Order: sequence, then C-alpha cells, then structure tokens
Amino acid sequence: MKHFTSITDVEHPDALIQQVVNLKEQPQFSNIGKHKTLGLVFFNPSLRTRLSTQKAAQNLGMDVIVLNINKDSWKVEFEDGTVMNGATQEHIKDAVKVISSYCDIMGVRSFATLEDREEDYKERVLTNFVQYSSVPVISLESATLHPLQSLTDMATITASAIQRPKVVLSWAPHPKALPQAVSNSFLQWSPAIDAEVVCACPEGYELSDAFTGGITTMHNQEEAFADADFIYAKNWSSYDSYGATPAVEKDWTITVEKMALTNDARFMHCLPIRRNVVASDPVIDHSLVYQQAKNREYAAQAVLQNLLEDL
Ligand code: CP
Repeated sequence: MKHFTSITDVEHPDALIQQVVNLKEQPQFSNIGKHKTLGLVFFNPSLRTRLSTQKAAQNLGMDVIVLNINKDSWKVEFEDGTVMNGATQEHIKDAVKVISSYCDIMGVRSFATLEDREEDYKERVLTNFVQYSSVPVISLESATLHPLQSLTDMATITASAIQRPKVVLSWAPHPKALPQAVSNSFLQWSPAIDAEVVCACPEGYELSDAFTGGITTMHNQEEAFADADFIYAKNWSSYDSYGATPAVEKDWTITVEKMALTNDARFMHCLPIRRNVVASDPVIDHSLVYQQAKNREYAAQAVLQNLLEDL
C-alpha cells in the first residue's frame, strides 16, 4: 500500500478488514516501526482519530509527532502562483515538504468547507499532501471520505459473525450542517463485506451517485429499519443543495421504539454523538459505539503495519 486515502488505495480490502478483526481478537505489539516517526497534522478537531492512531503507532514501536496546524502554525496558502502579501504566511507545498522530511508516514485531517461542492470534492488539501509528501499519507478524514472510520466499521460488523446482515445507514438530525464524508466512505467500503446495505434519508439528503450505486435509498425510516441487523446513524448535509439543511417533517431521531422495528439490531455511530438529538440515551447506552471507538486503534494499526512493510 502506497497511501491510505480511500478504499481504492487498498488492493484487498476484505483481507485488511480481516486483519483488523484478527487484531481485535488478539491484540499484537511489534517493533516494526522502531526509529520511524508518524506525523499527524490536524486542520480540524479530533478525539478518537488522534488518540487511536497515536496508540496504534506506539503499538508498532513508532514515535509520533502531532501538529494542530490551524492553531499552532502559520496560516496556510493553497493557491499556486499567489502573491502572498495577504493573510497567508506559508504555502501548502512548503509546509508538506518540510513536515514530511521529519516523518516516515504522515496523516492529515481536513474537513469539507461545505461552501463549494466542486472544491470540496476535488479534495484540495489531501491531494496537496499526497503530491508534496515524500512519505506515505494516511487520511485522518478528508473533505469527502473517512477511510479509517469505514475500515473500523466494516471490521466491527464482520466481527459480529452475522451471516449477510442487513445494515441500514440512517440519516439522523443534528443542529449543524455536517459533511458527507463518513456516510460516503461507509457506502464506499460496504461492498467489501457480505451485507445487504440500505441508505435511509429524508428527501433532499440523497448522497452522491458516486457512492450510492447498487445501494437502495429509502425515504421512510421505519420501513428501512424492518429486519435490520445494524443501524448506523449519521447526519449529513445536502449534497444536491450543497451544504444546506432542508427542513425535515418527521422526527428522524433514533429511539428505542424505532430500534424495536429491527431484527434486534445493534446501533452504531462513529462518535462524537449529540445525545437525544441523533439518538436517545438508551439507544446509545446499549450500542456498539465504544467497541467501534476501540476498533479504531486496530484499524490504524493494520494500516500502519501495511504501510511500514511497504516502505
Ligand atoms: N470518529 C472520529 O473520527 O472521531 P474524532 O472526530 O473524534 O476523531
């Protein structure tokens, strides 16, 4: 594996998912990363991604350096050929070349702005990192995808050992407009496991065709929940009216009553979650969310191990 920015970087996604399941069942430590450095660069906040990736690197003997680039460093310029006599102080090209000279593997997190769909879906920040880095790049969530989360989620579902489960990716309410990255990525990875996948969302919240091909989209949440084995909740803003949050008539919060319509489904969410907005307290308290969060460590470890082996 050269980089880990999307499932398309992975030759055998099913084998990588199984590697995560195996690590979860039998955690392992090694020194394959001894005297190697992982650099983590964050344009946006993080709890799980930052700590689980750091822990995974330590499990492999790596040293880790972290930069909250928007808070602690110079203001970054992304346009080529700009006369930098304004607010920006360091060009992305220079920043990435320098940071990667201190690392053997680098990770970057940069969310969608939700202002310009074309710009966000071009993945300008991630693309610049891949272009100018002298070392492999891991996406710690980009404008349109969150592959470490999706690898984790596929491993969490696979570890349940339910034969061909029905998995519902359900839109849920949120007070702020959120990117589509987790949901896009979840759908992009789902063909790597043997599952029936349904996307449930209100009208106006359909995801890009690039990710929904072959997946049933339903606008009735209760009907979608029938016979489900897993409910994966996530909010996202509109793709068609990019970044907008059109009014939704029905209440899409996931409750105990809605979970009762399923086949005793397990509730999943990537966290952080707005309690009693996305889902009610009892749904979250009897869910897989903490297992998912712990599995982030094993997903990051599997990815780092593969990248280290190919250095
Ligand atoms: N799920 C996830 O990526 O969590 P953080 O945003 O806290 O890293």
